[in-house]
Amino acid sequence: MSDEPIGPKPNTGSGFDWIAPVYDALAFVVFGRKLQQAQLTFLNRIPHDATILLVGGGTGWLLEQVLIKCKPRRVLYLELSARMVAKASHRMVKNGVVGSVEFRVGDVRDLPTDEPFDILITPFLLDLFPESTLQTDVIPRLLRILKPTSLWLVTDFVATHVWWQKALLWSMIRFFQLTAGIEAKQLPDWQRFLADAGLIRQESQPQVGGMVRAEIWGR
Ligand SMILES: C[S@@+](CC[C@H](N)C(=O)[O-])C[C@H]1O[C@@H](n2cnc3c(N)ncnc32)[C@H](O)[C@@H]1O
Repeated sequence: MSDEPIGPKPNTGSGFDWIAPVYDALAFVVFGRKLQQAQLTFLNRIPHDATILLVGGGTGWLLEQVLIKCKPRRVLYLELSARMVAKASHRMVKNGVVGSVEFRVGDVRDLPTDEPFDILITPFLLDLFPESTLQTDVIPRLLRILKPTSLWLVTDFVATHVWWQKALLWSMIRFFQLTAGIEAKQLPDWQRFLADAGLIRQESQPQVGGMVRAEIWGR
């Protein structure tokens, strides 16, 4: 019997098509280069010649850095937004970045392979889902491509007690609900669910004044 959930999956991000043209500019206006810096934190832990699954990479600026800095054997670039994928592939051509990349438009919950990868990267992806979806759908699906030696690089927002960071997080979740149709109504406790899934946190660094964490998880 299939362990896939029955029925259509609610939308988490094809609405990002709509904001793809302005996504990077919006992030820059609010956070400057801090969100990008957070995602670069642990790229130096990726060995050369690795196979990498990058999910929710957006317009492709991180892919470019991964290709230049990590020299991977192969990258599978999985994105729900066709416009984000178009921007990412265009960026590679425009900037003359070389590397073996398979661009695929699709939902992480329908990841059509159990092929193991050395490295999994999810940059600002996990916070788009409600906790129940993370627990029953997203994390179990991603665990299937992790080998005992694989590393999972997560960068994402975390709960904070600082009032203006709370207000900013609340506004961002409302903004992405309205513009991109994300399902999350509040910030999910993704760290707890990774630990509950049996993963072990190997490194963790606070970023963006503590409202973001860059982490490495493994089996
Ligand atoms: C908040 S944006 C972050 C983009 C990029 N990581 C960055 O920081 O610039 C989330 C990205 O995840 C993608 N996404 C949303 N839901 C997804 C899903 N279910 N499967 C794959 N990608 C998804 C969106 O299209 C969007 O590009």
